Amino acid sequence: MSRPIQISPSVLAADPSRMGDEVARLDAGGADIVHWDVMDGVFVPNITFGPHVVAACRPRTTLPFEAHLMVTDAGALAERWVDAGCSRLIVHPEAEVHLHRTLGHIRSLGAAAAVVLNPATPSDAVRHVLDLIDLVLIMTVNPGFGGQEYLPSMEPKIAEIRRMIDDAGLADRIDIEVDGGIGADTISAATKAGANVFVAGSAVFGHPDGPDTAIRELRELATAAAG
Ligand code: DX5
Ligand code: ZN
Repeated sequence: MSRPIQISPSVLAADPSRMGDEVARLDAGGADIVHWDVMDGVFVPNITFGPHVVAACRPRTTLPFEAHLMVTDAGALAERWVDAGCSRLIVHPEAEVHLHRTLGHIRSLGAAAAVVLNPATPSDAVRHVLDLIDLVLIMTVNPGFGGQEYLPSMEPKIAEIRRMIDDAGLADRIDIEVDGGIGADTISAATKAGANVFVAGSAVFGHPDGPDTAIRELRELATAAAG
């Protein structure tokens, strides 16, 4: 594997009454990325935060922000998320009529574009847009809520996408991220299947010794599993 292991804690599991402090805590705790789970109450049955919350937290860290857009029209507000300080926007093809156009639009705003696949969405959904993206996110739960159980049945899809990226000669450019139920019990298997970037909400903010210990443990387990 030629891309580095990265830990991207989801602030969905943070204390929403003190988001800025939580983001700063992730920075001090050694996170690589901050993962913002954006939900519109339509594409998924839940609502989280808007770009103003992200913008308010932006001065609290120099870590990159990625927005996982669980929304019906990611293109419509793409500029707002970029202006708020997100350097990567992750889009669901299940919610897009024109995925290729939306990814190109995000890139034209100066951000990186990425695609995220629901559990039932086949790997082929990303095959013809690999030239536009720097990351494929494979959901290992159904999107909408934190704290759900990891779906090991997604591991063959992770492996398929790993092969697709390797065969296209893009292994040094495109990351494979997993999201949902990632923790000490599941991160090794997801790594062995081919993932190198790990979203974790409950496992990071729910760790009895705090996010810094959780992040260190997850990184150690993934690094060991990557060999
Ligand atoms: C689910 C979100 C995930 C979620 C992960 O819709 O995309 O990022 O917050 O939470 P855990 O790690 O608790 O499964
Ligand atoms: Zn997410």
